Amino acid sequence: MASEWSAKNPYSSTVTVNYVLNGEGSRKETRHVVFDLGDSGLTYKAGDALGVVPVTSSELVDDVIGALGANPDTLVETHAGEVSLRDALSIHYEIHQANKKFVMSIGEKIQSSGGSSEFRIIKRERKSVASGSQKFQWSWSGEDSDFPEGFAPINVIIDPAISLWESLSSDPKALEDYLWGRDYIDVLGDFGHLGITAQDFVDQLDKLKPRLYSIASSPDFEPGTVHLTVGIVRYEGQGRAKTGLTTGYLADRVPEGTDNVRVFMSPTRSFVLPEDLSKDIIMVGPGTGIAPFRAFLQQRKADNASGRNWLFFGDWTEAGEFLYRDEVQAYVEDGTLDKLDLAWSREGSEKVYVQHLMAKHGSEIWEWIDNGGYFYVCGDKSRMAKDVHSTLINICVEHGGMAEEDAKDFVEQTMMKDEKRYLRDVY
Ligand SMILES: Cc1cc2nc3c(=O)[nH]c(=O)nc-3n(C[C@H](O)[C@H](O)[C@H](O)COP(=O)(O)OP(=O)(O)OC[C@H]3O[C@@H](n4cnc5c(N)ncnc54)[C@H](O)[C@@H]3O)c2cc1C
Ligand SMILES: NC(=O)c1ccc[n+]([C@@H]2O[C@H](COP(=O)([O-])OP(=O)(O)OC[C@H]3O[C@@H](n4cnc5c(N)ncnc54)[C@H](OP(=O)(O)O)[C@@H]3O)[C@@H](O)[C@H]2O)c1
Repeated sequence: MASEWSAKNPYSSTVTVNYVLNGEGSRKETRHVVFDLGDSGLTYKAGDALGVVPVTSSELVDDVIGALGANPDTLVETHAGEVSLRDALSIHYEIHQANKKFVMSIGEKIQSSGGSSEFRIIKRERKSVASGSQKFQWSWSGEDSDFPEGFAPINVIIDPAISLWESLSSDPKALEDYLWGRDYIDVLGDFGHLGITAQDFVDQLDKLKPRLYSIASSPDFEPGTVHLTVGIVRYEGQGRAKTGLTTGYLADRVPEGTDNVRVFMSPTRSFVLPEDLSKDIIMVGPGTGIAPFRAFLQQRKADNASGRNWLFFGDWTEAGEFLYRDEVQAYVEDGTLDKLDLAWSREGSEKVYVQHLMAKHGSEIWEWIDNGGYFYVCGDKSRMAKDVHSTLINICVEHGGMAEEDAKDFVEQTMMKDEKRYLRDVY
């Protein structure tokens, strides 16, 4: 029977374990977080992901409501019906990063406030104006009616929010740069005085979205629980410490023992272990990319799979970021892991990445693949997965004796699409 729990109806789980995996002195924060599935009836397989529904920090919610000058109990219309402003900003909308839609909507406020002729006057500048060979000096008394004769409108300085909005709305790159690292406390600091009501504000926000995490456990090995490996996103923006929405929630607001953490399963149809337990598997998963491979190794051990297992892992330093070091070393010792290659990118003078070690072992990788082996990649999509992909093609050229085009076709068509043995879980 299908479980009743879903993204729309998440299960309230208890976080039973939540600790930092990194070694002392590491500049990364990668957490191991365990969720109890209790009597939910939720099931999963190695390769699946877990959806986590975050809650925004109450400090941020309070500060944004303060910046709006609104009452937290004001009722607002939302996609979830009529709710208090506080609930809307806590659980229904994303406020930790400002969006384009909100900034663009400021234009309507400016228009509806009467256009440029009625902009608020912040100050008039003292001006020195050359008139023929004579200099004309004037200083403002502070009275609205005080203009030097003949120069009245020239030295009116309009509300900087208006000129800021004009520069942002006419230049997409400037808008993108402005939004990078800004939340609504920052943006309301610039525009909040333009008469934005609680409802105006909520109408422009993005709906709060759950985030997915590759499950780092096998249900046969860790029954009744789901384990995650979470890279916490922390940065500074506009002089304040900020976090990613969900990673900040998992790191700072759900200590061990917290219940009511809303989760759901996101099953995969493609990122699965070979049904034939005798098949070899190669796993490439630097950083948090190790997560599903911890699950795979647990599953291969639980299944007593006869196929060989090869893991390529890497991160900054062995001392700081060798995630699950003891477990990985135990798998080498008990023979679950046949081969282990570790790429530390910030230890020596040169970067060592997983694909460099793949290239070094190209002939053996080719042997495993030629023998029907599976090739898995998990982790960073934008750089690592692309480089690993081209390295795999190069290995087929160099060690499989293929022409470049044939190698590309073999990797992208035969392995990936026809035989489904080159599988990726990248983000
Ligand atoms: C299938 C799948 C599996 C995944 N598995 C994992 C996993 O196992 N482990 C894992 O850790 N993640 C995983 N992810 C990523 C995860 O879903 C989230 O995207 C990630 O944790 C960030 O979520 P967040 O809510 O904390 O950050 P968000 O609130 O979404 O914020 C991230 C954003 O913050 C902004 N940002 C980041 N750094 C800065 C900076 N220095 N200055 C300004 N802005 C910045 C960027 O706009 C960035 O896009 C997976 C994703 C997918 C799709
Ligand atoms: N979509 C999202 O919202 C989101 C959110 C969080 C994380 N992510 C992605 O998830 C990734 C995982 O983060 P993480 O901290 O666990 O690990 P990571 O940043 O991927 O870093 C892991 C290792 O990969 C190395 N690396 C960098 N570029 C590489 C390349 N081109 N090829 C191979 N290796 C490379 C890093 O080295 P150096 O750092 O020394 O170069 C580091 O040693 C992030 O890179 C990020 O792109 C996405």
